[in-house]
Amino acid sequence: MTADERPVEAVPSVPSGVRIGPLQAGERVTLTDNKNRRHSVLLAVGGTFHTTKGGVSHDELIGGPEGVVVSSVGGTAYLALRPLLNEYTVTMPRQAAVIYPKDAAQILMACDVFPGARVVEAGAGSGALTCSLLRAVGPTGRVRSYERRDEFAAQARKNVENFFGTAPATWDLTVGDLVESLDDEPIDRVVLDMLAPWECVEALAERLVPGGVLLAYVATTTQLARTVETLRVHGGFTEPEASETLLRAWHAEGLAVRPRHDMVGHTGFLVSARRMAPGFTAPARKRRPAPGAYGEDYTGPRAATPEAGETRG
Ligand SMILES: C[S@@+](CC[C@H](N)C(=O)[O-])C[C@H]1O[C@@H](n2cnc3c(N)ncnc32)[C@H](O)[C@@H]1O
Repeated sequence: MTADERPVEAVPSVPSGVRIGPLQAGERVTLTDNKNRRHSVLLAVGGTFHTTKGGVSHDELIGGPEGVVVSSVGGTAYLALRPLLNEYTVTMPRQAAVIYPKDAAQILMACDVFPGARVVEAGAGSGALTCSLLRAVGPTGRVRSYERRDEFAAQARKNVENFFGTAPATWDLTVGDLVESLDDEPIDRVVLDMLAPWECVEALAERLVPGGVLLAYVATTTQLARTVETLRVHGGFTEPEASETLLRAWHAEGLAVRPRHDMVGHTGFLVSARRMAPGFTAPARKRRPAPGAYGEDYTGPRAATPEAGETRG
């Protein structure tokens, strides 16, 4: 049996969302034309992808390999490939803004999401980050996603099921507010993508294992600042780290090798910190705050400097 003749199935046996073998009805392919315009097409027996230059018959693709070029009746050529996870998450239907692949990749690394990890995520939104988390925790891990809006949770469920072909057994999706719905299960890693992550810090700190990571993905500097200060005020976390990731694609053609002009200027910031063991605080920082950092105009939460030997939360 050659690689192309193997049946379509998840690889390995845990759902990964990766399919191999001949294209089948019911799965998505991306058709790309010579102007790099991409069209996501759900294959159906007898179906047609309609273009201004005539239709492309789905039957030409079904049963054959990906990576082929098919032509519309009017002669326009389309390259057919199964979408990778990074393409899927930016083209899938969405109700809430998704975490972009460059940030999802950073989140997995900053949070050190590992096979077997018990991960909590909120809000699930459109389920984009959920797909990456589910892959990273593998067959022995668990992702518990919380989403307080019914219609967003339904969209997340559809997107995750479409990507993996089924709802992975390692996934629970709860419709409800994270803080109100959390049970007492221990948590290794938390990823928050919501308007007010600081509201969840107290409840999550009670369930995060010592050494566990809490990460918030936020869009604005004011959210970043409030999250950082709330973690400091809590006292049971290491000094928060904040970052953003800028991804610059390059155009490379002969002597014309330069950054592309269409860079995404801003997506969001990551704020992360690790849970201390209960009763311990990180050693007090020796560095004084920058002049004016907590001046009279500062109205947010402010951590007291702990006395030597003092322990908190
Ligand atoms: C930007 S979306 C998340 C997108 C998601 N990370 C993705 O990649 O598709 C933010 C979501 O958080 C949900 N949300 C906000 N606060 C929440 C809370 N306390 N508990 C549960 N969900 C919450 C909102 O309803 C919204 O759907």
